[in-house]
Amino acid sequence: MTQPSFDTIVRNTLPQLVATSPKAELHLHIEGTLEPELIFALAQRNGVTLPYADVEALRAAYAFTDLQSFLDLYYAGCNVLRTEQDFFDLAWAYFERAAADHVVRVEPFFDPQTHTDRGIGFDVFMPGFIRAAEKAKQDLGLSCDWIMCFLRHLSEEAAFETLEASLPWRGHFIGVGLDSSEKGHPPEKFARVFARAGELGLRRVAHAGEEGPPEYVKSALDVLGAERIDHGVRSAEDPALMQRLAHEQVPLTVCPLSNVRLCVFPDLAQHNLPQLLDAGLCITVNSDDPAYFGGYVNENYLQLVHAQPQLKASHFYGMLRNSLQASFAPEADIARWQEALDVHWKAAAAH
Ligand code: ADE
Ligand code: ZN
Repeated sequence: MTQPSFDTIVRNTLPQLVATSPKAELHLHIEGTLEPELIFALAQRNGVTLPYADVEALRAAYAFTDLQSFLDLYYAGCNVLRTEQDFFDLAWAYFERAAADHVVRVEPFFDPQTHTDRGIGFDVFMPGFIRAAEKAKQDLGLSCDWIMCFLRHLSEEAAFETLEASLPWRGHFIGVGLDSSEKGHPPEKFARVFARAGELGLRRVAHAGEEGPPEYVKSALDVLGAERIDHGVRSAEDPALMQRLAHEQVPLTVCPLSNVRLCVFPDLAQHNLPQLLDAGLCITVNSDDPAYFGGYVNENYLQLVHAQPQLKASHFYGMLRNSLQASFAPEADIARWQEALDVHWKAAAAH
């Protein structure tokens, strides 16, 4: 059945309609939701001294020039996360924000090596994450499944050790991903560990084409077996790859505010998301590390509405629908959420 175009919806009603639509968040690093206020609260609770006088001074340091300049601060911020309660508080604060943005499904990334390398084991962070997700399901009706990421600046051997250490928790995450410094760390480096994850029945995703070249997107698909590409915006440099992504409808989890903050694009008006949509790709909108990049998922959508006037209502409807479709949730849940989305938009179009 073809969907109504929804382009009769007047533009000034779009922000509210998009904000209140059911949506999935598919590219969200839980450690990237660590707000400066929580960093200070946890530092005090755990007796950690921070090299910043106050929250404002820390926030002022969030002036990034590229991915690495962000990662340096992001990993440093994680140092305040010490106890199971800390990880619970981190995740719960995010889930409350997500529910306020009408997120019905989230597949958060977590970075075990950022914690295990500090002596904080799976037995500390996993119970915190699991307890927060159970409460989110119970109290907020939020559907959540975790994705464990390997840090690509570390070795494949270290990734294998992480996979091994995760096995007692196998029932508590659905997939693996690949993040951290992209340039110089091609997907091929992790071919064997991703193959093993596939044998274990884990879903596979990978960051590619954020700062790295389109070749990394191809090898994430062909060598790692990635089912979704996280970012992928540099695919636009390779017409054959664009045709393939459109043909295979590989979902791209695009993070507009992240791309601007990390200087992938000079500003939101020059982001290539419209080009990706015009080429027929399956695009979703996500927030990446919202505590660092200036907004959670609704803020990403809303700033796009304002910065990209050529994007029509049907584009936003399509991206919301894609977010649900591209999730790893049970099909019956996806169908239910998409039905709720359609009811919401048809009501808006009727006015
Ligand atoms: N880890 C957290 N955010 C990331 C990003 N945008 N790219 C790569 N690794 C990350
Ligand atoms: Zn990311």
